[in-house]
Amino acid sequence: MPRKLNYLNVSWPLDFTSLFPEQRALLVEIGFGNGDYLVNLARTRPDANVIGLEISSQAMDKAERKISQLGLRNVRPIHSTAETALAHLLPPESVTEFHINFPDPWFKKKHSRRRLIKRETADMLASRMVKDGTLLLATDILAYAELAHETLSSSRGLSNTLGTPWARDLPGRFRSKYEAKAYREGRRAYFFLYNRNSTAVAHPAIIKELDMPHLFLYSPLDAAALVARFETSRGRHGDIHIALLRAYADPRRDAAVFEVVIEEPTIEQHTMISLSPRERPGEYIVKMTGLGHARPTAGMHRAVAAVGDWVATQDEGARVLERKLRG
Ligand SMILES: C[S@@+](CC[C@H](N)C(=O)[O-])C[C@H]1O[C@@H](n2cnc3c(N)ncnc32)[C@H](O)[C@@H]1O
Repeated sequence: MPRKLNYLNVSWPLDFTSLFPEQRALLVEIGFGNGDYLVNLARTRPDANVIGLEISSQAMDKAERKISQLGLRNVRPIHSTAETALAHLLPPESVTEFHINFPDPWFKKKHSRRRLIKRETADMLASRMVKDGTLLLATDILAYAELAHETLSSSRGLSNTLGTPWARDLPGRFRSKYEAKAYREGRRAYFFLYNRNSTAVAHPAIIKELDMPHLFLYSPLDAAALVARFETSRGRHGDIHIALLRAYADPRRDAAVFEVVIEEPTIEQHTMISLSPRERPGEYIVKMTGLGHARPTAGMHRAVAAVGDWVATQDEGARVLERKLRG
């Protein structure tokens, strides 16, 4: 069975030669749910490679099982939000077709950031599409259709290929699970079909990894004493949110690890940052660990700084000696 993929264990941008035996046009389905539409795309389009993006682990498991049972080699599901994939995984002008079926509406105001179809995402979709590439979107919610129409029809780089804002039927289309359910319940979908026109658009560069963040500090308190004082804390640094959740000591090694959640606009990471002794008494190094395939993003640099700064406030004699950090 092929290696399970997620946004943290693949290269940024994706290395397509390592994912697919042959290099072909790339189709991407966002939010593939039970995977039936994804599998059908791969089976009916042997001329193409297919990537599926999903945030649900259950959906990932289901799709991986179906793909493996059928022995399909031109399709790879990746556990990733669409937003993370657009910023870190998919280079400009790399995608021939995007398929988005029945995205979650997220209508509550406090959830609106999670809504897929919004200005930033539409601009990223246009950037990542090849010229003449297509974007297919289906929804069964009128309010979402109206919003999508407003966003897509005003997107630089995208042109509506239908004579109307949307179609109520696309003959011959394979019905996804949500679509079949909507039909059973008497609801018909709204379909959008856009193509990438020849208007130039901005191509935000792939956000790549930075150097490994670390810092050196001096602390009269040992690791166990630091952990005994630890309390959960949360901080915000511009658009980066960092939560220091828990700390665990390893008194035999005079070491500790700090569990952190780092939320950046394009990516979220949940991992550990370590504190280990250096040769000189009282000196420690704080650095990211590779746990959970953590990646050195700007947020990770901030999180290592946050742990170092916290240690430095725990005793009058404690201080950061040297920062190997961005910013
Ligand atoms: C309403 S379901 C539709 C599933 C499937 N496309 C269908 O039509 O049957 C929406 C799916 O999108 C996934 N999803 C939600 N937000 C996402 C995001 N930001 N990136 C990728 N997938 C997402 C959810 O986990 C869920 O499986």
